[in-house]
Amino acid sequence: MEFEFDIHKIFLEPITKLDSTLLPQRRPLVSSSEAEKQIMKVLDDIGKASAKAQRLPAPITSASRMQTNQHHLYILKDCTPKTAGRGLVIGFLKVGYKKLFVLDRKGSHIEAEPLCILDFYIHESLQRHGFGKELFGFMLRIEQVEPQHLAIDRPSEKFLSFLWKHYNLRAVIPQVNNFVIFEGFFRDRKAPG
Ligand code: ACO
Repeated sequence: MEFEFDIHKIFLEPITKLDSTLLPQRRPLVSSSEAEKQIMKVLDDIGKASAKAQRLPAPITSASRMQTNQHHLYILKDCTPKTAGRGLVIGFLKVGYKKLFVLDRKGSHIEAEPLCILDFYIHESLQRHGFGKELFGFMLRIEQVEPQHLAIDRPSEKFLSFLWKHYNLRAVIPQVNNFVIFEGFFRDRKAPG
């Protein structure tokens, strides 16, 4: 995804993590007000693109939603020399902790607060090039979480295939909410906090 401004001046790392402050850890090379404006534009546009790709009635990711939630959003830019100009955004991954009642294999309700995958999108022209894996792997390292301990909000078929291919996650434990969890969810979880 291209923008009218220089992506390399707001996102200095290949993958930038954002929270509700919308401030990257490495300070952008433009003024704070300009950086905020540009980052808000990026978030709104990638949120819309993701919603379109998933055929959702409205975006679930936007700048204002990021500002009002305790979510973490990882954004991947293109660092190849061919886009050395203003740069491109390749995709993003949004996660956050949620209190959920989850069913175990025996059908008992268990209260948990897992890290949830809330939104995930790689630009159509760049899917199946390994960028999703790069972003997901980075998030797992930073959040210090094992893939089987995640809960996924309404995964698409592509995402289910992705999780099976890269992380061997296939055996779904049926739930009554929209979240999907996998075999191993209840094993060796870190204590909350
Ligand atoms: N059809 C089927 N499986 C796909 C497709 C596709 N078009 N694209 C990716 N995958 C899966 C496959 O398992 C594929 O492996 P394969 O090519 O050997 O079959 C694997 O992902 C490829 O891995 P990556 O290249 O690392 O993944 P990618 O960069 O394509 O990112 C993602 C995966 C984010 C699911 C991407 O395909 C995408 O943006 N899809 C559209 C939006 C979407 O469905 N997002 C998830 C919504 S659910 C949620 O966010 C909670």
